[in-house]
Order: sequence, then structure tokens, then C-alpha cells
Amino acid sequence: MKPKIFLTRELPPESMAILREHSELTYNHEDRYLTKSEIIAGIDGVDGLLCLLTDTIDDEILAANPKLKVVANFAVGFNNIDVTAATRRKIPVTNTPGVLTDTTADMAWALMLASARRVVEGDQFVRARKWEGWGPLQFLGSDVSGATLGLIGFGRIAQAVARRAQGFDMKILYWNRTRLSADAESAMGVTYATMDEVLKQSDFVSVHVALNSETQHLIGARELSLMKPTATIINTARGPIIDEAALVDALKDGTIAFAGLDVYEQEPKLEPELYDLPNAVIAPHLGSATIGTRTKMGNMAAENCLAACRGEVPPNLVNP
Ligand code: DGY
Repeated sequence: MKPKIFLTRELPPESMAILREHSELTYNHEDRYLTKSEIIAGIDGVDGLLCLLTDTIDDEILAANPKLKVVANFAVGFNNIDVTAATRRKIPVTNTPGVLTDTTADMAWALMLASARRVVEGDQFVRARKWEGWGPLQFLGSDVSGATLGLIGFGRIAQAVARRAQGFDMKILYWNRTRLSADAESAMGVTYATMDEVLKQSDFVSVHVALNSETQHLIGARELSLMKPTATIINTARGPIIDEAALVDALKDGTIAFAGLDVYEQEPKLEPELYDLPNAVIAPHLGSATIGTRTKMGNMAAENCLAACRGEVPPNLVNP
């Protein structure tokens, strides 16, 4: 008998085909988030829940179906799921690591280059029919080549960002909870520094830690004040790692020069003033948004969900 799976939003076609072939699938056909009560209704009597980073899966939802065999997240981050509660209830939780590393690193770079070279401001200027020709002082940005890149966190995605930085001849500093061996640091061409030193010395700071109680507002007013007034901060990780109100103040008063953001504290809402700041590039959480990567994530989430429904240990289990 095929397991019953509830999916909170349609995934790429290949992933949908896997789920349709191997399960009795029900899913949200609308292009919108489900409410908590809709998720509770959806998981009634199913074996597996396949959800998105936008679905908050708390203990109340987990309690609604005592037979639930898995919560499979369509994301590498899983801060949207109460993993402690799931573990207490013996429900496996899974994520989609690895397959979005390069795509997300590319996005960090897209934001870095767009910020440094004021691509979005220039685009808006041209579209507004304001451009009257080339000017020697028009939209001057800052050089990425040869600049210092600071990485806050040094997991898979940060390392992929660092690999790209080699091609730009950047000096690369990193801070992480655990330090690499001297051999690994020299093979990757990176130098360890305290977080304060990374913030002080870097021209571009890119944030790559997971969101948890220790990293919430890791970057606040104090940390921003350590950065150079010419520096740019990039966030493709999770919004709440940066205190967004403090960031707006720092961008307004010139504490730092620029921000390239893909994630926000209260998605899809932003700090109101952020919408109008010219020195911020703001993207709608596009880190993993390529056809290839979203398909790989969908297939991986489907395989995790199906494996746990069959009673196997799913390949990408995150419970401790
Ligand atoms: C993730 O998988 O955590 C990403 O944020 C999705 O883009």
C-alpha cells in the first residue's frame, strides 16, 4: 500500500512525479501559504508531511496527527520546525543539504556584485528615462577584486563563496565556531579571525550561519558599528541573524555603505524603511531559486519523506 503524503505547496514537476508515483498524494494546489489550521487539516490521517521553510511546524501541529512518520522540509535550513518536539514525539525531521550549496553561493555573489557596482540603482535610473549619457562620476561603486571578504560561519555555502572569491583575488577571512586545521586553511586560502576582527577588516561581510537561539541577532548595532563605513553586508542565510532595525539605522547613518539581502526577519515583510533605501539590494529569498536546484531539493525531500514512510531511516535526518 502506498503511503499517504500531504504536501503544503506544489513542487517542480519531476518531484511531483516521484511523489505521485510512490504515494497517495494530497497537496495545496493554490499559490499561497497554508494557515496552521489548514496544515492540521491536511495532515489528518497521513503518514508523511512535506513542508516548506515558510511553514511553521510546531508541537501543536505535530500533536494533531499521532501517527505522523516524518516531517520532510524542502530546504536545508529547518528553523521553521520544532525539532525538539518532533524528537520527543519520535518523528524524524529531514532537510535538503548539499544540493543548493553552489546556487546559494552564486546568489551571495550576485548580491555582492550588484551592491558593489550599484547595478539595481543603475537599472532603476535607466528605466526611469533619467540617463542622459555616460558620466565620469556616475554611480561609482567599489572594487570587489582585491578586496577583503569576511565570512561569518564557514560551512558548505560559505566555503563555496570563498572558492569563488579566489577568482577575484580577494583576501578571505572567516569566523566559525570551530576553526579548520592549518592545512585546510592554507588549502582554501582563508585566514581565521575573531568575529570582531572579521567585521573590522572586511570590505564585504557575508553571513552564513544557521539560525538558532545562539545566532538570532548575531549581527546587531554593536557588530555593525565595528564594520568599515565603506563596507557591505550580505545575507543569504536567515533574516533574524541580523537585527534588521539596527541594519536600517546603520545604512541610513552611514555606519556601513551597503547591504545585499535575500532574507528578512519577518518574511515577506521588511522593515518599512528598507523598501526605500537606495543602498540596499533587496531580493525575495531567491538563494536556491534555479530550476535545477529546486528540482534536486524537491526530489531529495520526496525521497526523504518516502523513506521514512517506509519505516527506513531517511537519508537526511536532522534530529539529534
Ligand atoms: C534553504 O534551503 O534553507 C534556503 O533558504 C532555500 O532557499
